[in-house]
Amino acid sequence: MIPDDLRARLQRHGQAHLQTALEQLAEPEHAKLLRELERIDLAELQSLHARRTQKDALPPRERIEPLPYPTIEEDAGEAFIDVGEDAFDAGKVAFLIVAGGQGTRLGCNDPKGMFPIGPISKKPLFQIHAEKVLALNRRYIARFPLLVMTSPATDATTRLFFKRRNFYRLPPQDVWFFCQGTMPAVDLESGRMLLEAPDRPCLSPNGHGGTIIGLRDSGILNRLDERGIRTIYYFQVDNPLVNLADALFVGRHHLANAEVSSKVLPKTGPKEKVGNFLLVDGRCSMIEYSDLPDDWANERDEAGQLKFWAGNPAIHLFDVEFLRKITAEADRLPWHLARKKVPYLDEAGQLVQPETENALKFERFIFDILTQAERWTVLATPRDDEFAPVKNKDGVDSPATAQAMMIAQATRWLHQAGVEVADGVKVEISPLFALDAEDVMDKLRKATTITRDTYFK
Ligand code: UTP
Repeated sequence: MIPDDLRARLQRHGQAHLQTALEQLAEPEHAKLLRELERIDLAELQSLHARRTQKDALPPRERIEPLPYPTIEEDAGEAFIDVGEDAFDAGKVAFLIVAGGQGTRLGCNDPKGMFPIGPISKKPLFQIHAEKVLALNRRYIARFPLLVMTSPATDATTRLFFKRRNFYRLPPQDVWFFCQGTMPAVDLESGRMLLEAPDRPCLSPNGHGGTIIGLRDSGILNRLDERGIRTIYYFQVDNPLVNLADALFVGRHHLANAEVSSKVLPKTGPKEKVGNFLLVDGRCSMIEYSDLPDDWANERDEAGQLKFWAGNPAIHLFDVEFLRKITAEADRLPWHLARKKVPYLDEAGQLVQPETENALKFERFIFDILTQAERWTVLATPRDDEFAPVKNKDGVDSPATAQAMMIAQATRWLHQAGVEVADGVKVEISPLFALDAEDVMDKLRKATTITRDTYFK
């Protein structure tokens, strides 16, 4: 039985094919699909599909200014570090990995966090992040919660992966998983919802913007309050270089009483595929590379530098109270449309693997909340030390480029400790050995040369 009002809505919003799908199902599959469809906003889906050929509306250029380059006086830097260390000492920071994406460009079937990225150790991304948190627990004699956002696509596998590996020696009660929401994928041309099984629509994770609602609905915002934790250190699972030990970043955020703080990095070129930090009406905002008009992207100042220089490595600090304040707003964040290849069941019930983009997916982006922040800080960071995204199978932003950057960072840290690395030799440093160059200097004081591949663990 299809309730009359659902039947009417399916017809009104261009989804009449789902009536047929429902009619062909026996129980309990019929009830299952019915439940899924009841919770989908069909009118919203229809209007999103109608926008497929439009670009996201941008504010006019007059309202936009480039982000001024953030500089820090040396004396101030020391004060920031002190405050940041106090926050770490008091265990008042939680770390959040967003790991709900499907990693389609990398093309692995498992969650991306399971990818063996360690150049020598082959440690998975999840392990590298978890060990950074474990190393911080040891450094500060504290217990920092590690929050892991999954999606229905990655949830069960991710939880099992951590469990089987004993949570990489983090206290299991300090690893908090939560699952983000989903959005249906629709056929690019017709806007009809695609099915991945007779009783199941193709649902994809609703973007990293799903973090805020996920944090609220999972009860994690309350748990953080109970532990007196004010700050969430947010980063992406696919960046093995992220520096989680940055006391200056945390201290500056706290001293400014900021609601959001973000790392920014100078872009490699006008159209580098990263989001662009800029000011809209004086507020910190972000425009995706694909939305930044070419003429803006190419604007230069008198010194010949790009005006829109500030790229987004997706490393943020969020004030927990701020997140709570904007949860209502997070439900209204804009949807961004992406054309993707999505396998689906055709009318004969056969699974089709499309060769070209056949579907629209809808995602919310975490950085759309930036403009809500009344107080925010940004901190420029050198790319070589903090940003090695693993996006593609090969070429740019691939495992090969990320591993090369990990090796280069380890080589620099060793060099600072007086240790030379012979040409062509690979070195890798476990987070449990060192979180930064100072740690390496504390451990290795002998001037030597490393002549074969070495893993410092
Ligand atoms: P990307 O946008 O690069 O997507 O995610 P992806 O899923 O990793 O890869 P593609 O686009 O399918 O190839 C950036 C970060 O945001 C997380 C990802 O897990 C990654 O850490 N993310 C993305 C989510 O947690 N949820 C989402 O819905 C989307």
